[in-house]
Amino acid sequence: MRALVWNGINDLRVETVPDPTIVNPHDAILRVTATTTCGSDLHFIDGYIPGMREGDVIGHEFMGEVVEVGAEVTKVKPGDRVVVPSFIGCGSCWFCRHELWSLCDNTNPNPELQEPVLGYPTAGIYGYTHAFGGYAGSHADYIRVPHADNDCFPVPAGLADEQVLFFSDAGPTGYMGAEFCDIQAGETVAVWGCGGVGLMAIHSAYLMGAGRVIAIDRYPERLRMARERAGAETIDYTAVDSVVEELRELTGGRGPDSCIECVGMEAHGTGLDYAYDRVKQILHLHSDRATPCARPPSRAGRAASSRCWACGAWSTSSRWA
Ligand SMILES: NC(=O)c1ccc[n+]([C@@H]2O[C@H](COP(=O)([O-])OP(=O)(O)OC[C@H]3O[C@@H](n4cnc5c(N)ncnc54)[C@H](O)[C@@H]3O)[C@@H](O)[C@H]2O)c1
Ligand SMILES: [Zn+2]
Ligand SMILES: [Zn+2]
Repeated sequence: MRALVWNGINDLRVETVPDPTIVNPHDAILRVTATTTCGSDLHFIDGYIPGMREGDVIGHEFMGEVVEVGAEVTKVKPGDRVVVPSFIGCGSCWFCRHELWSLCDNTNPNPELQEPVLGYPTAGIYGYTHAFGGYAGSHADYIRVPHADNDCFPVPAGLADEQVLFFSDAGPTGYMGAEFCDIQAGETVAVWGCGGVGLMAIHSAYLMGAGRVIAIDRYPERLRMARERAGAETIDYTAVDSVVEELRELTGGRGPDSCIECVGMEAHGTGLDYAYDRVKQILHLHSDRATPCARPPSRAGRAASSRCWACGAWSTSSRWA
């Protein structure tokens, strides 16, 4: 089959690679009908996140048609159209049973590559470095989906691929950001970043009752999409002295009721802060946790929705995906 292959930093090529096959009885093989780029892909394409190997197939936001299933798959069958989350959940471990899918205990076969940095490993992700499991990605004709019964979500008839594709990654990520804000009817929400995740956060904020959403980015086409397709007011942060002052100006001096950060790693900036941040990134001095948080004592203390045993701070999921 043909697939988009990582061959080195900033070196992607479409190549012929072996077709995926059923490895375990819970697997399914999908013919990929739609697959898209996530902002997270940029982090390993430019080499900021290590762990890619020459020949890795990339992509983790996708959907497709089931063409083959393993002997123990019961919920999906060949011919079904399905959308698949980027994180792989087994459906049966403690974390999956508590709906903490991105922390699945069973789907990352290389936990030792993550533990030194994150404390404990996350679940596996398709096409997202060997630290996240080393699974082949979705920018390909076909993909193997482990734990198909848990991870394949059937698509209702009548919906086009483009209407459901983002339920794989950007949709739930933006939705979760808005959900964290506990938005009350009529509130004003500020959203930093107008990529896929930001646009989904804007839509989600309105769904949850926001009266106004103010979106911040610097690319005119992204700001236009946030206005025209998602109904946000926008700020070009390169065109104002201070985003904070601009937000106060737009909200009667009070500021937004809540803020959602949809930029993530490698945020662009200006001035001394940005230079300082870049140096720390290049030297890999950035860390999610302050020193006392480096190694929580129990597996239940890791990543999403967890509380640090030492300082009591709540942490959200890792910034790495
Ligand atoms: N499940 C997850 O944890 C998950 C899933 C998807 C994406 N992500 C992360 O979410 C982030 C956003 O993803 P995306 O696909 O929308 O990425 P993207 O790269 O398409 O969008 C990011 C946007 O942020 C803007 N930006 C950069 N610096 C900014 C600044 N200082 N102020 C305001 N805007 C700024 C960029 O111009 C860009 O439009 C990424 O870091 C990605 O890694 C996490
Ligand atoms: Zn992603
Ligand atoms: Zn699990």
